[in-house]
Amino acid sequence: MKRQLHLNLFIHARGHHEASWRHPGSSSLPLTDVRYYQQLAQRAERALFDSIFLADQLALGGDVTQAPRTWLEPITVLAALAVSTSRVGLIATASTTYTEPFNLARQFASIDHMSNGRAAWNIVTSWLATAADNFGGAGQVGHADRYARAEEFMSVVNELWDSWAADAIIDDRASGFYAKLDRIRPINHRGASYGVAGPLNMPRCPQGRPVLVQAGSSDTGRRFAARYAEAVFTAHMAKATAQEFYADLKRLAAAEGRNPAHVLILPGLSPMIGSTEAEAHRLQREVNDLSDPAVGRKRLSGRFGGHDFSHLPLDRPLVPEDFPDPGSVEAARSRTEVILNLVRRDKPTLRQLLGYLASARGHYVMAGTPEQVADLMEDWFADGAADGFNIMPPLLPAQLEVFSAEVIPLLQRRGLFRTDYTGTALREHYGLPWPASVFDDPNRAVGRHEFSAGV
Ligand SMILES: Cc1cc2nc3c(=O)[nH]c(=O)nc-3n(C[C@H](O)[C@H](O)[C@H](O)COP(=O)(O)O)c2cc1C
Repeated sequence: MKRQLHLNLFIHARGHHEASWRHPGSSSLPLTDVRYYQQLAQRAERALFDSIFLADQLALGGDVTQAPRTWLEPITVLAALAVSTSRVGLIATASTTYTEPFNLARQFASIDHMSNGRAAWNIVTSWLATAADNFGGAGQVGHADRYARAEEFMSVVNELWDSWAADAIIDDRASGFYAKLDRIRPINHRGASYGVAGPLNMPRCPQGRPVLVQAGSSDTGRRFAARYAEAVFTAHMAKATAQEFYADLKRLAAAEGRNPAHVLILPGLSPMIGSTEAEAHRLQREVNDLSDPAVGRKRLSGRFGGHDFSHLPLDRPLVPEDFPDPGSVEAARSRTEVILNLVRRDKPTLRQLLGYLASARGHYVMAGTPEQVADLMEDWFADGAADGFNIMPPLLPAQLEVFSAEVIPLLQRRGLFRTDYTGTALREHYGLPWPASVFDDPNRAVGRHEFSAGV
């Protein structure tokens, strides 16, 4: 079959443009109303998206007076979406730095059971410096240490998800046997950061384990993605850097002994779509005019680990020396590099840079007709920049509606996107294999769990 695009809907605030919440094209439902997320996920499912995604930060943003965020805790929202959708994949962010692996493994396995195999975890190490203040207050764990801990975390959760064989439950009323003890094994993990005996206290989940998604872009982040990720989110402001990232990550995945086709690369795309180019640009201006440079300055400061940009004039062209060295930033290093590349290339003023970042925080932004959006997607897909896209509508739901009604049919007519779901599990939508089970491997000793009396 012809290779086809994979599409994820990134649900964020009332749209990805920071001023979207003030625009009539965005929903007036409170962001604490679960119907908002249900309606968007159901719309994405009708449009045959592979998946929807909810991001997460573990501290209140400093810009709350002028910017609403996606407020509800994402795994909790996935539970609601698991029962109000039936096909679309469900991805939520959770942190390896501020969660215990046993809890996280249970939560995502539960969502996978509840959704019949549609759960995915966006693995983050949490770049936001203020998150550390909410978890012990000992200061932010450095970039390298966060990833070192994440490596051990992955080994624990993968073992936990694999601690039950698929056939462990017999549920035989006649014989009185519920489960086979020799098909459940402890993991007995003792490492630098975690001690976990296992097994998981729930049966193997429908997908074997949830689909693993990751969005690290630094060298360490890319190597981590190459080892674990089955889908990768990434932010690019130009096709050339997306191509470089794509080639590098596929090469790194192959070097890890993985099939590069099983690591899907999904760059962010935030299209403002109009029936004519002029209409799309008018809409873009309309939303830009609602944004506040003071909010942008605060966000930029957050990106650069709290660096102070308050002295910079808005209308002088920027130079790289206006920014701290990305190597010294303990937050999301790769996005700081994306921003610095733009400064080197286009020499924008601070006002122009903030305007661009307001649209989608450093992801690819365009304003155009449905044909122009479909053309760009086809070009990136065919030219080694993407296996699909993380669609980030600037206004929700208005621009999701236009994308679904106008762009998706064009992609389908070109044979680039499915015309129906062929499976239920997210692994099927993404074309990913089911993870192997240790119970099928005769070379690995299969332990036996000693059980204790339950509550
Ligand atoms: C589409 C996308 C979504 C992301 N979502 C989150 C998130 O929800 N929470 C978070 O802490 N970081 C999130 N990140 C940041 C990444 O996990 C990662 O920290 C960042 O890209 C920097 O890469 P690095 O850690 O390798 O420097 C996201 C990144 C991208 C591109």
